[in-house]
Amino acid sequence: MSIRTNYEKWYSTEDYYWGLEPGDFLEELIQLCPPESGKKVLDIGCGEGKDAVYMAQMGYDVSAFDLTENGIRKTIKLANAKNVSINAYVDDINTFDIREQFDIVYSTGTIQYLFEQNKKEFFEKINRITQKNGVVYFNVFVEKTFLELPPDWDLEEKMWKSGELFTFFPDWKTERIDEVIFEDFSGGIPHFHCMDTIICRKMI
Ligand SMILES: C[S@@+](CC[C@H](N)C(=O)[O-])C[C@H]1O[C@@H](n2cnc3c(N)ncnc32)[C@H](O)[C@@H]1O
Repeated sequence: MSIRTNYEKWYSTEDYYWGLEPGDFLEELIQLCPPESGKKVLDIGCGEGKDAVYMAQMGYDVSAFDLTENGIRKTIKLANAKNVSINAYVDDINTFDIREQFDIVYSTGTIQYLFEQNKKEFFEKINRITQKNGVVYFNVFVEKTFLELPPDWDLEEKMWKSGELFTFFPDWKTERIDEVIFEDFSGGIPHFHCMDTIICRKMI
């Protein structure tokens, strides 16, 4: 079963697979780049839109894309329910082409679906579409020889090397980088993940 099919199926019900609680990291982004005078946000791999809709409620002008039609349908439905408007559409992180610039660009739980050969070009695009003084947030699962592959790991997901994410932003100002190991119960079997996270600001 392909990744599009898996997520399409998970997103096909009226429940919100990832819930409706926005990610904690958004508060950090809001502090680093407050929503004054129509600041623009891009959510890459927005799922069912919980984070994108929250950012619209905070006053940002939000664009968001995901590979799944059901995810985008539910993002728009959630935005309507919260009385905000969002530019949400289906697109692929491996091929997307955007000409405008954003003050905040983020992606959570998604860049493990980037093909190896597209990583460099992806971060060149991120550099192009981020406004000077804008901030970005990315996280990604990384491999550790002492951790087993999670039981619900999808063959289309690719673990990154520890620290690899940080190498794509040499000329940016680091606001936070970290690597944490945490326990997870998805798939019904307790297991551990290691995750790298970066928040940084474009200076030039
Ligand atoms: C773990 S979910 C995270 C969703 C959302 N960011 C959240 O935190 O609720 C990963 C998301 O990546 C999306 N995805 C997978 N491959 C993708 C691709 N090639 N392009 C765009 N989105 C993709 C999936 O459809 C799914 O919504």
